[in-house]
Amino acid sequence: MIDIHTHILPGIDDGSPDLDTSLRMARIAYEEGITQMIATPHFISMEKEDRKDVIIERVKELNDAIMQNGINLKVYPGEEIFLTPDIPDRYVHGDVFTLADTGRYLLIELPIMSFPEYVFDVIYRLNVMGVRTIIAHPERNKIINQNIDRAGDLIEAGALMQINSLSLFGVFGRESKNTAQKLYKKGMINFIATDCHTAGGRSPRMARLYDIINKKDLFKYTETNPSYIFAGENLPLEEKAPEEGKNKTSIIKNLFSLFKGEREAKDET
Ligand SMILES: [Fe+2]
Repeated sequence: MIDIHTHILPGIDDGSPDLDTSLRMARIAYEEGITQMIATPHFISMEKEDRKDVIIERVKELNDAIMQNGINLKVYPGEEIFLTPDIPDRYVHGDVFTLADTGRYLLIELPIMSFPEYVFDVIYRLNVMGVRTIIAHPERNKIINQNIDRAGDLIEAGALMQINSLSLFGVFGRESKNTAQKLYKKGMINFIATDCHTAGGRSPRMARLYDIINKKDLFKYTETNPSYIFAGENLPLEEKAPEEGKNKTSIIKNLFSLFKGEREAKDET
């Protein structure tokens, strides 16, 4: 499996505090069936920012240590970016990491207690530049907990959804678990990742998903779809799930065309 959301890098955020913990997390991940990870330390504009060369260096050091310890796991750079209105500008200036540094997907975190309407502007502006927004753990947002249609609005705007395996296991409480289950059952998700922070309660656990998610879906959310991120390619069109009874397909198709057109134009230059 491929874990696209982790805080395994040592001493850079509220995730792993040191190399020893990171190595224990890597061992757990491998035992759980994870062979590739994207390290996504927190980025909060003007508040908590890391230099990209520092992240690259830390990823390299961690990969070296993982290899020396005989663990079959490879870590790639990325960031989890807290939602602020300036994200598209920060992307343009090269201040933030796309996932696996392939230039196509940004992992964006909503606040827990609110749902800023400018999120739609951020998604749209990134889309126009050929960058897809992946919303990190929508099931942890209180507004989405109360009204799942808000997640539908984000999908309609062109965002993709990543839920946490640990939410499905109930680690973040009943509300997050219920919302994660609902999002999954309604076909509104694209990725499942661990969002691991520790080698304890928030360790990189995935294997129990086999008891919860059917194998075909699990493969899609933890292998097939993440592989598009690594390849720097678009997810197939059917990944955006329109809600029943609403004609969202055409909107999504238009957005997809826009995204594709912009990218092709960019690729040609
Ligand atoms: Fe995270």
